[in-house]
Amino acid sequence: MLTSCTTEKAAAPSAHLPAELFDGLGARQATISPKFLYDALGSKLFEAICELPEYYPTRTEAGIFERHGHDIAHACGIGSTLIDLGAGNCAKAASLFPLLRPAQYVAVDISTEFVSEALARLRLRFPHIDMRALGLDFSSGLALPDDVRAQQRLFFYPGSSLGNFTPLDARAFLTRLRKGCGLDGALLIGIDLAKDKASLDAAYDDALGVTAAFNLNVLRHVNRLLGSDFDVRQWSHVGFYNEAAGRVEMHLEAKRAQRVRWPGGGRHFAAGERIHTENSYKYRQADAIGLLEQSGFEATHVWTDARCPFAVIHAQAIA
Ligand code: AVI
Repeated sequence: MLTSCTTEKAAAPSAHLPAELFDGLGARQATISPKFLYDALGSKLFEAICELPEYYPTRTEAGIFERHGHDIAHACGIGSTLIDLGAGNCAKAASLFPLLRPAQYVAVDISTEFVSEALARLRLRFPHIDMRALGLDFSSGLALPDDVRAQQRLFFYPGSSLGNFTPLDARAFLTRLRKGCGLDGALLIGIDLAKDKASLDAAYDDALGVTAAFNLNVLRHVNRLLGSDFDVRQWSHVGFYNEAAGRVEMHLEAKRAQRVRWPGGGRHFAAGERIHTENSYKYRQADAIGLLEQSGFEATHVWTDARCPFAVIHAQAIA
């Protein structure tokens, strides 16, 4: 059973990061981009989330890969150039190697070091597969180097990470993937589907408080990046399904009025004021397929779980 998650997505150091954070924190509705959830501790907390009984996506997707692995391999074809987006510890893709038998495996992750270490271990297990590690924040651009084979590219984007984009940004992202596919490329993607509010509320606000710790930890990460003085104890986790917007939202809510300082400025937060930290869109199956079509793909196969709506989709790039 595939149960591992992407484990390390620490934001790559960049001159733009503080500006992006300052803009978000200074906005009327304060925001912190979800990419800042993944420092070293945040990545570990996300791994723990994937083990929680309430957090169904990882398990459900793994079950689909397990039950339909042969059909999935048949749809994808063998000998592909398998490009794993957000590869982390590479475990999900590696579990499919015996079925997919890729000619080349390209592990893309924002953390070069983490993914390189994972690949070094993987090379020992699969010495016959040509492997490349690429440190890249692929959410904003996808420039693949020349040594990535152009033939039979198969982009692998599991875990419903597409849901963390707005539908508009998701379409722009998928359109970039379509361009990267060339003439004969395809996409194998996992997308979480809309379901009852109680299940979604529990999945993003679990009884143990792991998701709360994951969300609150973003403030510590921001403190390190900005030199700010957020006090984690003064904030509460809020996670719920916003049915009208079709998405789960995570926020941090100020327990009391407070001033947060950072070099050159700061901000007053009223009691109850929130910082929006993440959206996780839950699509209807038809809408997910529509989104792929609008981005230049044709969904050729869809595998779902009858008990817990989640879709693994093979989508072929179309002209
Ligand atoms: C990474 N991503 C797909 C997760 C999700 O479900 O949106 C992140 C997460 N946030 C809270 N729990 C898990």
